[in-house]
Amino acid sequence: MLQVLDSNRAARQVEARSRSWMVGRQEIILGDCEDELARMAAGSVDVAVTSPPYNIGVAYRSYDDKRPRDEYLDWLRRIAVAIERVMKNDGSFFLNVGSTNADPWLAMDVANVFRETFTLQNNFTWVKSISIGDDSVGHFKPIAGQRFLNNNHESIFHFTKTGSVRLDRLAVGVPFKDKSNIARWGHDRDKRCAGNVWFIPYKTVRSKAQKFDHPAGFPVELPERCIRLHGKTGATVLDPFLGAGSTLVAAERLGCAGIGIEIDPQYAGTAMERLRAS
Ligand SMILES: C[S@@+](CC[C@H](N)C(=O)[O-])C[C@H]1O[C@@H](n2cnc3c(N)ncnc32)[C@H](O)[C@@H]1O
Repeated sequence: MLQVLDSNRAARQVEARSRSWMVGRQEIILGDCEDELARMAAGSVDVAVTSPPYNIGVAYRSYDDKRPRDEYLDWLRRIAVAIERVMKNDGSFFLNVGSTNADPWLAMDVANVFRETFTLQNNFTWVKSISIGDDSVGHFKPIAGQRFLNNNHESIFHFTKTGSVRLDRLAVGVPFKDKSNIARWGHDRDKRCAGNVWFIPYKTVRSKAQKFDHPAGFPVELPERCIRLHGKTGATVLDPFLGAGSTLVAAERLGCAGIGIEIDPQYAGTAMERLRAS
């Protein structure tokens, strides 16, 4: 069902383009993000959250995830410029990318490409699983052999145009452990900045369907935290590599309008189903 929310969006709907659908406040565009970003209005996005393909041979349905490194990085270089164009001057762009044990520079190489266009304002470590003492929380892919340890984290690079975008740190804050700190340091509430290490475990799943038949999704809590940290109510959210739609599910939960672009029709369809069910 097509729901048109405002005149700008209605105008976009009738532009020549592949295909797009509205579910609630969310627009899902089936197409190549390089083309679709070029069609969007400049300065129209508050928060972009995305995870591009990592070029590590993931079996996506449509996209070839094993290209020569230079070609892959050149492609991301063009995407960086395209994202920068559609972002507002005080916008935030959260780029999730991980390395592999065999290719430990991958995330940093990708970040360096985006560095040519943006300023790195914050650098988060997303912890998927952690052991504290004898206790372990979260899920991980076990690594065989004696050379490498299990790889339990990825990066979330927070890029902005200026490096000085004001955030709502307490929107993703945590209560003080030592409550005496509240009065001692003159805080007006029991919340402190949670820091730049985010523990966001995957939910336990027992089938591909529970992972929305997508090989590389992130938990909805990840984009949710990014959008809340950016701190604008009613923000316009963008994910140019939408996958199974986690970013738009987060945007909908938070009352934001969102735009997601996905090249594969089945993944775009899954995103639509998830949004309808949410
Ligand atoms: C790492 S996945 C994103 C997963 C997503 N964050 C989620 O939680 O489901 C990257 C996605 O980018 C899509 N993709 C690859 N090239 C694309 C392009 N040129 N335009 C739009 N989407 C593309 C792939 O099909 C894949 O679904």
